[in-house]
Amino acid sequence: MKSFAQLVAIMLFAAAVPLLPGQEQGSRSKAEMKKSLAPYVSSPMNVVERMLELCGVAEDKVVYDLGCGDGRILVTAAKNYRARAVGVELSPKWAQVATDKVVEAGVQDRVRVLQLDMMDANLSEADIVTLYLISEANTILRPKLEKELRPGSCVVSHDFEIDGWKPSKVETIKVFQRPHSIYVYKVGARR
Ligand SMILES: C[S@@+](CC[C@H](N)C(=O)[O-])C[C@H]1O[C@@H](n2cnc3c(N)ncnc32)[C@H](O)[C@@H]1O
Repeated sequence: MKSFAQLVAIMLFAAAVPLLPGQEQGSRSKAEMKKSLAPYVSSPMNVVERMLELCGVAEDKVVYDLGCGDGRILVTAAKNYRARAVGVELSPKWAQVATDKVVEAGVQDRVRVLQLDMMDANLSEADIVTLYLISEANTILRPKLEKELRPGSCVVSHDFEIDGWKPSKVETIKVFQRPHSIYVYKVGARR
């Protein structure tokens, strides 16, 4: 059961207009708007760290952030945990921001940013998948995760559950009084 503050935050997220600094709403291409599964809103840094920890991030893991925004999850995984990371981002502008942040952090040997629709990404090498999308997007993505992820891999979603999956753990942390839920899912053997 979500708190009132959490529901308000989620509604604001869902209504957020995914604009970059200086970008007009009309400047996003029609193709980009059609494929967009979530607006740009970044996860707070302590939520990022906890998402990665709850999925057991480590040097030998490959992290995929689907909709990587400014690349903060990729940089944190590579810099703090020496993991390899791949960011998939539809927006060319956010993909460029993420690429610049990766270079700035000096972790380009372990991180790749792909400017791509996440529905077209190959997830077969991922050990950990991080998501901060909306519920409908998670539902669209679910069959792809079920088909491509290896048993034992971990999916972690900020604030939005994956309908039909049972989380192995749910943790809520407060950032400036706003509760953020983290849902952790372990991928089982294929039926
Ligand atoms: C809420 S932001 C999350 C950013 C980052 N993962 C984080 O947690 O800080 C969602 C991101 O998904 C991207 N996105 C939306 N639809 C996408 C799609 N079909 N393929 C790839 N990226 C997409 C948006 O451009 C946005 O940057």
